[in-house]
Amino acid sequence: MAAETAHLSIDASKAGAKIDRNLFGQFAENLGHGLYEGIWVGTDSPIPNTRGIRNDVVIALRALKAPNVRWPGGCFGDEYHWRKGVGPTGQRPATLNSAWGGVVDANSFGTHEFMDFLQQIGSQAYVSINVGSGTPQEAGEWLEYMTAARPTALAKERAANGHPDPYSVGFLGIGNETWGCGGNMTADYYLSQLKIYSHFVRNDNPSQQGPNQMLKIAVGPGTPETEWTETIMRAWQHHDWSWNIEGLSLHWYTVPNGWPPSTPSTGFGVEDYGKSLKSTLFMNELLRRQETVMDKYDPQKKVALAVDEWGAWHAALRGTNPAFLVQQNSLRDAILASLNLNIFARHSDRVRMANIAQMINVLQAMILTDKGQMVLTPTYYVYKMYVPFQDAKFVPVAFDPGTYTQGSISLPRVDAIAARDASGRLWLEITNLDPEKPVDLDAEIAGMTAKSAKGETLAASAVDSVNTFEAPGAVVPKPVSANLNLKGGRLALTVEPKSVTVVSLEP
Ligand code: AHR
Repeated sequence: MAAETAHLSIDASKAGAKIDRNLFGQFAENLGHGLYEGIWVGTDSPIPNTRGIRNDVVIALRALKAPNVRWPGGCFGDEYHWRKGVGPTGQRPATLNSAWGGVVDANSFGTHEFMDFLQQIGSQAYVSINVGSGTPQEAGEWLEYMTAARPTALAKERAANGHPDPYSVGFLGIGNETWGCGGNMTADYYLSQLKIYSHFVRNDNPSQQGPNQMLKIAVGPGTPETEWTETIMRAWQHHDWSWNIEGLSLHWYTVPNGWPPSTPSTGFGVEDYGKSLKSTLFMNELLRRQETVMDKYDPQKKVALAVDEWGAWHAALRGTNPAFLVQQNSLRDAILASLNLNIFARHSDRVRMANIAQMINVLQAMILTDKGQMVLTPTYYVYKMYVPFQDAKFVPVAFDPGTYTQGSISLPRVDAIAARDASGRLWLEITNLDPEKPVDLDAEIAGMTAKSAKGETLAASAVDSVNTFEAPGAVVPKPVSANLNLKGGRLALTVEPKSVTVVSLEP
């Protein structure tokens, strides 16, 4: 099909807000096979592992440079009692995972295993404490257990359990969806809990007393309504020394047909594709609405908006436990991921954290496993291609997105973001939403003299193309250098239909 043309104009000298690396955060809830089998196989497993954590998954995740991982929930977080997950593995009590399918949980993956996993993949802890069914004392003691450097009884217990040094906890979520599964609270009731918990959870790690301090994140909204945000931010504006937050969360899933999720994750066509992309682009408006309220009470943007659960929630794969939220991951999900990451980047003065749901085997996953097998999803490759955007400075891109029409749905044909990294390289991302037509891109680059350009693109034959254990290479990035042209301050490139492309320009 004939290519459409898109003109882009970029001034590389106009680098603005930092695209916080924490926008590329992950979420690993104790749900289905997210932790058990996905990460934890146990020390006796024939699956190659290091202290019970599977090696293949660790190697794959290291390449993503995941800045933080949120754990243990989600809804599970408000049912989790940390004491059951420490001590000799064989002596930990079995409990029920009532949040997700009522399965028996041996508690083999607890605090130490989570921290070991983070150390293996090179990431930071985002721990979600239990507000719904816990107490401030329990949460305070967990923090002391994890972070106390001085010889308290809890610090000694941690040492006896194998870790004398205090752990670092980068982020602390004070409850999860407390308007729903986290206790069905009103905003006012949660606010009173937030003040209590925020005061009584303390991080004693000496390395976290200065600029590396643990950031506390309050539960925020899960709908486009703004009352919840109003309540928390109005109070925050006048907060005293006894409580504080550095972030407010936002949860939003792409569920094109509404709840319960019904879009298939395999075997769908361009109608479902168009509907999903339309639905996911609402993220921009959602952020705008919440930001308007936050700007009113916090014009200096001290409190970050943390989109700590987002992604596509499709129908559960046939034959799987519906409580385990298992879905395939297609090229559609990759394009949907790039659109959301671009939205976050454009909002990066306020949105400084985001966590895709979820990392392994659950919802829009990076990785799928089945016993000893592992496959990387199209969404994984988007995260890998976006690594250079972590902590790079956002550079505005002027362009006419054009229109791609799918039935009664109108969508932008292209989307693009740019950023400058610490070494002066310019990174450009272009998403072609159109499933049929390639786009001839003509980008005018001012503010730098680019000597060379290279790039890679993620595309496939169909919007529902997926990677499987049998065919893991159906949707993988490939180089685009052959059709990349750099002349007189202009970049010319043809991008394939339904694709995600990242190009770097070397100064
Ligand atoms: O990610 C699955 C669930 O979605 C989480 O546990 C919960 O916070 C949200 O409703």
